[in-house]
Amino acid sequence: MLLGVNVDHVATLRQARKGTEPDPVRAAPLAILGGADGITIHLREDRRHIQDRDLKLLRKCISVELNLEMAATAEMIGIALKVKPDMVTLVPEKRAELTTEGGLNLKKNMKQIKKAVEMIQHRGIPVSLFINPSIADVEISKKIGAKMVEIHTGLYANAKSKIQLQELERVKKAVEKAIALGLTVNAGHGLNYTNVKKIAEIKELRGLYIGHSIISRAVFVGIERAVREMKKLIKEAKSKCKNQNAKLRKYFLAL
Ligand code: PXP
Repeated sequence: MLLGVNVDHVATLRQARKGTEPDPVRAAPLAILGGADGITIHLREDRRHIQDRDLKLLRKCISVELNLEMAATAEMIGIALKVKPDMVTLVPEKRAELTTEGGLNLKKNMKQIKKAVEMIQHRGIPVSLFINPSIADVEISKKIGAKMVEIHTGLYANAKSKIQLQELERVKKAVEKAIALGLTVNAGHGLNYTNVKKIAEIKELRGLYIGHSIISRAVFVGIERAVREMKKLIKEAKSKCKNQNAKLRKYFLAL
C-alpha cells in the first residue's frame, strides 16, 4: 500500500512569518528517504500555505508521484495543465475552513467537476475525487468519469468506540463499491499513528494520503523518521491482513 505524504503543514509554518523556512520543497526528499511513495500538496485559492513556486519546484525535483490537491476552478485547471502533476485530487474548498472538511458535493457541483475531470484526464493526468464514504457518491464518481477516488476517513478518524466502528464500516462499503465499479481507491484525512491500522488493513486500497500527524511527529523526531514509522505501521497492518487471509485459506482447504 502506497503512502502519500502531504507537506502542506511545513508551508503553513513558513507562511506564519511569510519567509523562506521551513521549505516544503526541502521536506519532500526527506519524506521520500523515509519511504514516502508520493508527495501531496494542496494549492489553495488563497495560497495560505503552498505557493505556486513550491508546486513548480516539486514538479522539477521529485521523481515519486506528485499529487496536486485543488478545487475544480478554471484557475486551478489552468495551473494543473501547465505544471502536469502525476495526478490531481479534486477537493472542495471553503475559505474559512481549517482543513478540507468533507468530501466533494458531487450532486450540487456535478457539471463543474465533470468538466474539470474531462479537461485534466484528456491531457493524460489521472483525476481522483475526494469523496465521503457514501455508495451514492462512489456511483456518481464513476458516472463523472474519474479514474480514482479518495475516500474521506475524517469521520472515522475523529469518532470513538462504537461510532468509530460504524464509520469504519461505511469506509469499507464505499471501498468495496468503488472496486466493484472498476475505480482505483485511496483513502485519507485525519489518519494518525493510532487509527491508521484499521484503514491500512483494507486490502483493496491502493494508498493512504496522510499529512498532519506525520508533520506533527516530525517536529520532534524529524520527517524521515516520522514517515518511516508510519510506513512501518501500514506495512504491518497489510501483512497481518495477508496472514489472516492465508489462515482462512488453510482453514477452508482443511474442511
Ligand atoms: N486527503 C485530502 C484530500 C486532504 O485534503 C488532506 C488534507 O490536506 C489529506 C488527505 C490529509 O489529511 P491529514 O492532514 O488530516 O492527514
